[in-house]
Amino acid sequence: MRETLIRQSDAQTSVPIIAVDAESLDTVLASLGETGQVWCRANGYSAKPSSHQLVPGLSGELEAVLFGVEEGGNSNPFSLGNLAKNLPDGDYHLADGFPGAAEAALAFALSGYQFNQYTSSPTKKPPRLCVPNDVDLERLTVILDGVQLTRDLINTPANDLGPEELASAVEAVFVENGGSGQVVVGDDLLDQGYPMVHAVGRASSRAPRIADYSWGSEDAPKVTLVGKGVNFDTGGLNLKPGNSMTLMKKDMGGAANVLGLASMIMAAKLPVRLRVIVPCVENAVSGNAFRPGDILNSRKGLTVEIGNTDAEGRLILADALALADEESPEVLIDMATLTGAARVALGPDLPPFYTDDEALAEDIAVMSEAATDPLWRLPLWKPYMKYLDSKVADINHINTSGTGYAGSITAALFLSRFVEKAESWVHFDIFGWTPAEKPGKPMGGEAQGIRALFDLLSERYTKTK
Ligand code: BES
Ligand code: MN
Ligand code: ZN
Repeated sequence: MRETLIRQSDAQTSVPIIAVDAESLDTVLASLGETGQVWCRANGYSAKPSSHQLVPGLSGELEAVLFGVEEGGNSNPFSLGNLAKNLPDGDYHLADGFPGAAEAALAFALSGYQFNQYTSSPTKKPPRLCVPNDVDLERLTVILDGVQLTRDLINTPANDLGPEELASAVEAVFVENGGSGQVVVGDDLLDQGYPMVHAVGRASSRAPRIADYSWGSEDAPKVTLVGKGVNFDTGGLNLKPGNSMTLMKKDMGGAANVLGLASMIMAAKLPVRLRVIVPCVENAVSGNAFRPGDILNSRKGLTVEIGNTDAEGRLILADALALADEESPEVLIDMATLTGAARVALGPDLPPFYTDDEALAEDIAVMSEAATDPLWRLPLWKPYMKYLDSKVADINHINTSGTGYAGSITAALFLSRFVEKAESWVHFDIFGWTPAEKPGKPMGGEAQGIRALFDLLSERYTKTK
């Protein structure tokens, strides 16, 4: 269970966090008791943005916390995240007039996340925050729970989270919310038309599978989420060098993210028909592994020449997207830790997204900015489709030109070949990981884009009362 890091205001028993800038510093100091005032001056506290100062009361108790914000408003609403890990255990509240209280509370709680199930020594408890009554705590809680689920799934090591456990996680979230669905496992994947999921996952001792769950009224608008669920990516026969393999437990980050988003959608009871499809595989090495040069059939019927077994994600996604596309959803979203090239282009904190739907792209950009959930559009640049030409099959799944150009774009273009009927499709090439801690982002598995997408879907599909 997630520890409750934020709750509704209870100012009597908690320590106030007071926003202060260079201009208001003297006034704020004057409002403190004399001990506190003297202490702050003795420490030379100057209200630098994101800096904080503990303020003692008469008997040395913690009376208040000063937190530096930028003059004329706080242009970085997530800066309060810095504070959460530096405060002593205890209850705090945002003092009246704290700028951007909802975002600040969200950042505070996002920073307080800990993944400590595997450590035996006790870890420092994160501080708790009471939020003002005008902050929509219910919505914040829905978002935090979703992010927590995503992070926990990514952080859980592959020895404890294989294809079976990942599919069970999808099932659990849906069953909890009254949804239902099925998992197709092992050789049944061949009978039921998922040849590429089978080919990628068959070399593992843990059988590949595809989870397909739905929730909500059948006549509501169809919103379908597809997530790359590679529990561990060794690269297959095109084995990754050791350094590149270190973080590959996170290669189910797309699945973890769409599941976090799904949990938000269901908790908020958005009036949609939600469907989540997650192909779950381990890209392993064994005598029966698929090989470079193999030609695979796909659910859609296109034959696919294998250029490199380390480009496994797009193969399992292609079958999953083809399945999703069959019922022409109104919105089809996929998320995947698909390419190293996306990280080279935009770094770990700014996932690219791809869509031909101009209105959707615009909405995503707006929501991403508003939610401090960075995303950047890259083009589905059709002229590069020729890089995927194959001499022996309908398509190759990697750029065969030998140039190595546009790795994230060509991966997206490959996926686009498997989506035809969806009214609107968007693909996110995420990193799913925060390599170095930042405000609101502890090091480790990360939710990327799903807070923005939840806001977008909440606005498009307004909750029925
Ligand atoms: N899971 C990786 C992509 C990845 C690597 C994401 C590192 C984030 C960090 C994916 O399966 C992969 O290995 N892609 C290859 C594709 C290449 C062989 C065409 C890549 O990006 O190098
Ligand atoms: Mn790979
Ligand atoms: Zn991968």
